[in-house]
Amino acid sequence: MKKLTGPFTQILPLTGLSLKGPLRDDQLQVITNGWVLTNNGRIITIGPFERLRRDHPSAQVEEIAGRHVLLPGFIDCHTHICYAGSRAKDYAMRIQGKSYLDISKAGGGIWDSVLQTRAADEEMLTELLLLRVERHLAEGVTTIEVKSGYGLSVKEELKQLRAIKAASQRTQATLVATCLAAHLKPKDFDGTQNEYLVHILSDLLPIVKKENLTNRVDIFIEDGAFKADNALNYLNRAKQMGFDITVHADQFSTGGTAVAVEVGAVSADHLEASKGKEIKLLANSNTVAVALPGASLGLGMQYAPARKLLDAGACLAIASDWNPGSAPMGDLLMQAAVLSAAEKLSNAEVFAGLTFRAAQALRLSNRGTLATGTPAELQAFPCDDYREILYQQGKLRSQILY
Ligand code: NIG
Ligand code: FE
Repeated sequence: MKKLTGPFTQILPLTGLSLKGPLRDDQLQVITNGWVLTNNGRIITIGPFERLRRDHPSAQVEEIAGRHVLLPGFIDCHTHICYAGSRAKDYAMRIQGKSYLDISKAGGGIWDSVLQTRAADEEMLTELLLLRVERHLAEGVTTIEVKSGYGLSVKEELKQLRAIKAASQRTQATLVATCLAAHLKPKDFDGTQNEYLVHILSDLLPIVKKENLTNRVDIFIEDGAFKADNALNYLNRAKQMGFDITVHADQFSTGGTAVAVEVGAVSADHLEASKGKEIKLLANSNTVAVALPGASLGLGMQYAPARKLLDAGACLAIASDWNPGSAPMGDLLMQAAVLSAAEKLSNAEVFAGLTFRAAQALRLSNRGTLATGTPAELQAFPCDDYREILYQQGKLRSQILY
């Protein structure tokens, strides 16, 4: 069914912008007083009412009251929102100055979320995930990547991935699952780090493939998580099995980005510790650099060098990392606005990082713009100048129009 929606004070289709490197606001195409013509949930074209009405007389007209700026729905390309329980205790210790090691010794950290998530059944986990998905959707995020990684055994990782699949069938949001069984070597696995990774490769990933639960594999490369050389072997083998690769890289120390670029990962995420060498590697690759300001805010640490990454020519996406430990807030727009002030990112760079550049990190080439044929996942902000959106630092909220 054809639908004509409008009018919009400004429409930003975000088309015709480069995938990599810096963007200026004067490069943004801004269509004033335009309408959007869609057909069965896909965009056909944008233009003035009179012409679209004349050329498509059968289209149903949906008039939007008030003045609005229209953007494509946001894409959050990195979350861990399939979990149970809380880590408020960790956070309280952290803001009292306790170290990561102190927190982990006190029973906190990723392992605590693993135990709390294992205690929930698949239905409960699906419900908890859906609550977070609906909150994100209400805040303008229409495509959401969701990682496993709080199961850390074949059975428990499958439970998480099945919960993500079940949730995706019960929401209007598009969910993209990622297998993060290599988040941490579980405390109850009797063997080396390498033995655990081999176990995942031979006993989990074939089932993930067979059940079509995801085609994406992630690993956390860090002191205390997985070593770079073990990760490289694991990722190469996962890639041979047909998985797209993404990496938790350079969060506290470098090493992850080099592995991500070497295996041709679709994205390298975190990058708070990245230096000139890593920035260059990313800029000269097709691996998307994903900044996660929510983790910097949650941990009270520096942001990824987003400005330098863009200036060097990298493709920069911005994601929330929403998780119970390091990034419990999960407000993507607010985090992107804060990052833009700290790192000096233009409106164009932030909107690109939240839309078509984030789509690239998920290999969803047909999303994140208002081009013909893309899904009509529109968000309308109640203002008449797109610059109000970041200026209000997340307080100006959009309404989703499907
Ligand atoms: O991306 N860095 C590793 N994993 C998550 C944190 C997960 C947790 O603390 O539960 C992250 O920040
Ligand atoms: Fe993460």
